Amino acid sequence: MSARILDGNALSATVRGRLAERAAALQSRGVTPCLAVILVGEDPASAVYVRNKVAGCEKTGMRSLKDSYPADVDPAVVFARIAELNADPTVHGILVQLPLPRQFDSDAVLEAIAPEKDVDGFHAENVGALMQGNPRFIPCTPYGVMEMLKSQNVPLKGAEAVIVGRSNIVGKPMAMLLLAAGCTVTVCHSQTRDLAFHTRRADILVAAVGRPRMITGDMVKPGATVIDVGINRLQSGPDAGKLCGDVDFASTKDVAGLITPVPGGVGPMTITMLLANTLESAERSAR
Ligand code: GUN
Repeated sequence: MSARILDGNALSATVRGRLAERAAALQSRGVTPCLAVILVGEDPASAVYVRNKVAGCEKTGMRSLKDSYPADVDPAVVFARIAELNADPTVHGILVQLPLPRQFDSDAVLEAIAPEKDVDGFHAENVGALMQGNPRFIPCTPYGVMEMLKSQNVPLKGAEAVIVGRSNIVGKPMAMLLLAAGCTVTVCHSQTRDLAFHTRRADILVAAVGRPRMITGDMVKPGATVIDVGINRLQSGPDAGKLCGDVDFASTKDVAGLITPVPGGVGPMTITMLLANTLESAERSAR
């Protein structure tokens, strides 16, 4: 049996339609939701992500500001800009694209963003709120994954959820959200002994490691829901230059019950949830 494909573009379009209606309602009250994005350096992948975030705002009836700085910028310049954006009442969301160049203390940059405008949900105060089960902003990628699971009515209470990857951006917040939803959660990482032992137990398997096609069909429980967060560009082989996920789609699609493709799965949902957080922030400011 072949897995059902969970189409992130289709779900994204539905959610964005609802967001556009809410943005229009806010606009009629004189408030235009606005996201400010800061990009430092010339990393091509980061440039694409930022371009998609800005385009997403425009298409949903939101405003965006984009500040680009050269890779060797003095961090003081960026901190000064963040302070300005924090103080600007017409700005509802602030995002600094990661990774930052070496001269930056990334944690210090994230802490400089006003927590009530931290639409990435990376500020320590917001991380703490999420851990306590009282989130202010849910980090966009795990938020998108939860929306995808919800859209398919995937049973979560009592389910075995296995996350491969322990990053602050995906793995850790994903664990908190699945735990809050009633899953029994296992987080695997580079030091995990016998990864396949864990992944084969998963009713819900989330791959977020950044290693192309590392999860293969033989590591997946028949009928499982497989969520592929990876976006990797293949460097060699017959598919060189193509995008692929952390899951080997070809061998997994006949084992899993439900699977997200790459591209067109989690990626579009991440940006959609960033727009949702920005809109939510603007609505709160107008209350
Ligand atoms: N780099 C990769 N993913 C993300 C994200 O979700 N937010 C930010 N700010 N940078 C990223």
